[in-house]
Amino acid sequence: MYGDVNFDQINLLEAPPTGEPDRQYYFIAKCRQWVRDFEREQGRRPRACVVNFGCQMNARDAEKLSGILHSAGYEITEDENADFVIYNTCTVRDNANQKVYGRLGVLNGFKRQNPLMKVALCGCMTQEAQTVAKLKESYPFVDLIFGTHNLYRFAELLCEMYGSGGRVVDIWEGTDRIVEDLPVERKYPFKSGINIMFGCDNFCSYCIVPYVRGRERSREPREILREIEKLAGQGVVEVMLLGQNVNSYGKNLENGISFAELLREVEKIEGIKRIRFMTSHPKDLSDELIQVMKESQKICRHLHLPLQSGSDRILKAMNRRYTKEQYLALTEKIRREIPDMAITTDIIVGFPGETPEDVQETIDVIRKVQYDNAFTFIYSKRTGTAAASMEPVPEKVVRQGFDEVLKCVQDTARMRIARYQGMTMEALVEEVNEGQNSSEALRELGAGEGQVLLTGRLSNNTIVHFPGSREQVGTFVNVYLKECRGFYYLGVTV
Ligand code: 5AD
Ligand code: SF4
Repeated sequence: MYGDVNFDQINLLEAPPTGEPDRQYYFIAKCRQWVRDFEREQGRRPRACVVNFGCQMNARDAEKLSGILHSAGYEITEDENADFVIYNTCTVRDNANQKVYGRLGVLNGFKRQNPLMKVALCGCMTQEAQTVAKLKESYPFVDLIFGTHNLYRFAELLCEMYGSGGRVVDIWEGTDRIVEDLPVERKYPFKSGINIMFGCDNFCSYCIVPYVRGRERSREPREILREIEKLAGQGVVEVMLLGQNVNSYGKNLENGISFAELLREVEKIEGIKRIRFMTSHPKDLSDELIQVMKESQKICRHLHLPLQSGSDRILKAMNRRYTKEQYLALTEKIRREIPDMAITTDIIVGFPGETPEDVQETIDVIRKVQYDNAFTFIYSKRTGTAAASMEPVPEKVVRQGFDEVLKCVQDTARMRIARYQGMTMEALVEEVNEGQNSSEALRELGAGEGQVLLTGRLSNNTIVHFPGSREQVGTFVNVYLKECRGFYYLGVTV
């Protein structure tokens, strides 16, 4: 198991092992040799920067990339003017792609100044053939390109890149493989994401994810529980179980257990105080899961339940496989069983064929459900998806609908979040807030000498800022929620 591996004892004179993860340990050891040579020649260790775009799944992948680089001996930095920079990309909407292309230009400038610098690109964008073609043609300074299915081979690809001196491109169409026990460098010592499944089989007609992340694959429950137990042993108190559609967890496993059963097992792990998960598909959310959430002492009072649209016609065209009525019945049931449950959602405006009447249906759902927060997106056409061939909505109509939905979301969420004002709730302290407004907030809250502004998260996922000390990061504190400021609170510890 990783953690017990001594990379410097691996014999590099032998051929690399064929089995995983041993093969990758071998290549990490080989990278360490390269790093030592670099250090000898340059008088310093090479610096590596991992930049993440996109969702929680990508954030977890970025921790794996950092873990491998760290094990290889690199100094990890947030400065993109480094010796190795890797972009872990997202392609869910086109603006994510544009951001990457823009920043690649900046990297090229750094590379001109530093001939030792290498640039790599991985993640969802590189799974698209047209992206790879564009990179090959117009971005010759990108040295390594790989995809989502072969991320576990990062160490091997890194060695190949340094060995070949040229560009390495390795994109797989898909995989049924899950490689366990690779190094991970966590961003927070006290909380962690855990992949419970990969890919998605739903094929919502707008979504590129099933194409770039492949078919749904669940991890074995014993591997998940072993990982969480290990994390708990290292001081992790909050876990976020990650999957594109966690409600269908276990379906492809031979002796599979349901997501609700998995949660029951995670609940038993000593040291874990909070359990979160992401993302739930409304069509698969079972009564058993609602029951487990209700009885649990650890599962957070927050459910992200993407609506996408409130119009039956559009939901059908999106291939979401539920109706407005079914969605509303589900949220009513959840609120009946667990009244303090915060519900958040994702909404797409401007899906092909959407009319102003359809938008009103979406607004109707927002008013009825009273979301604690909603992420509203403008529909973005993704090549290869079923919706890509459908008639687009004129931009002006989209804009109008988007503004109306956004306003409705903001108005309802503000009211909903404010309902806890004046109460005391438990928060997990996540970080010190050094932003521009922190000194003003500290003054307003009557902070004492030497206190800093801390940022904590409530069980229902709402953020609260309050005065405290740096040492409190990673601990639970009771905070009096003094004043609701839109989407967050200002408070004081009690
Ligand atoms: N255009 C706009 N939004 C999209 N999403 C997924 N695909 C698209 C697209 N093509 C949104 C959905 C999903 C969230 C992660 O991103 O709302 O829930
Ligand atoms: Fe995309 Fe739908 Fe799968 Fe979510 S459930 S990743 S929106 S295809």
